[in-house]
Amino acid sequence: MPPDRYAVIGNPVAHSKSPLIHSMFAHAAGQELVYERIEAPLTDFAASVAAFGDAGGRGLNVTLPFKIDAFNLARSHSERAARAGAVNTLKFESQGLFGDNTDGAGLVRDLLRVLGDVGLGLYASRILVLGAGGAARGIIGPLLAEHPRALTITNRDLHKALELAQRFEGGATTVDSVALEALTHERFDLVINATSAGLGGVTLALPERMLRGAQLVYDLAYGDGPPESSTPFLARAVEEGAVRTADGLGMLVEQAALSFALWRGITPATAPVLAALRSGDKGRT
Ligand code: ATR
Repeated sequence: MPPDRYAVIGNPVAHSKSPLIHSMFAHAAGQELVYERIEAPLTDFAASVAAFGDAGGRGLNVTLPFKIDAFNLARSHSERAARAGAVNTLKFESQGLFGDNTDGAGLVRDLLRVLGDVGLGLYASRILVLGAGGAARGIIGPLLAEHPRALTITNRDLHKALELAQRFEGGATTVDSVALEALTHERFDLVINATSAGLGGVTLALPERMLRGAQLVYDLAYGDGPPESSTPFLARAVEEGAVRTADGLGMLVEQAALSFALWRGITPATAPVLAALRSGDKGRT
């Protein structure tokens, strides 16, 4: 029997660390599998997925810009994928494609790791999410499941923040939206950058000193250098006096571990893989 085949599918996908991460998981679990990269044409995602399934593929990690296409393509969804309206993990099942979204749960696992080191949790915290695109949409449900005191969404296009907040209203946590310029006086325990601003080398226009005093400033992106300041956003947070900062490499490893668990039935240990990856180049989950 040839080994089971998996892949990450995106465009571009050349710099994805997923093949490396999954091969480390498989090695640690004593499992034999093949994990590839598929660069799908922007207009032909569905055909690329079908071709991989026909060739015996068992599962796919889906990355930019296809997470919503993957949601639309899946025949059934996990609850968290349905809530996010986006899919980052596909599993080929006999009944058809199953779609899950492990991004938000991966983020929460990494946040709890970082905060756990200093005896803090998400419960009762005031959270600010910067951004209202696909990445933000994937993380809000799992953040709310930790029962923070309040969750505020801000975005350059305020209307999108408002729509996203409305989608998640009505639970135990207050969810609201606010304009970027109006953030000058508010203080948050946890600030999460879910915008794509830094990826293109653009600086996020934030009010002066608004990251001062935050218990944790977290960037879903990651870059070269020490995890505390590996992105321009984190470097700024350090400068403004955030208590602690963390980049998104931990989330990348955690979301991969949850995908691996869905496919293989084993949740791999993440700490050794994260430690091995900390030689870093640029990217995002
Ligand atoms: P992703 O899947 O990475 O979330 P997306 O859905 O295109 O990608 O969303 C990108 C997010 O980054 C949006 O919130 C976007 O703000 P707008 O909705 O106002 O476009 C935000 N973003 C991108 N570049 C930005 C910039 N230079 N400054 C502020 N926000 C930016």
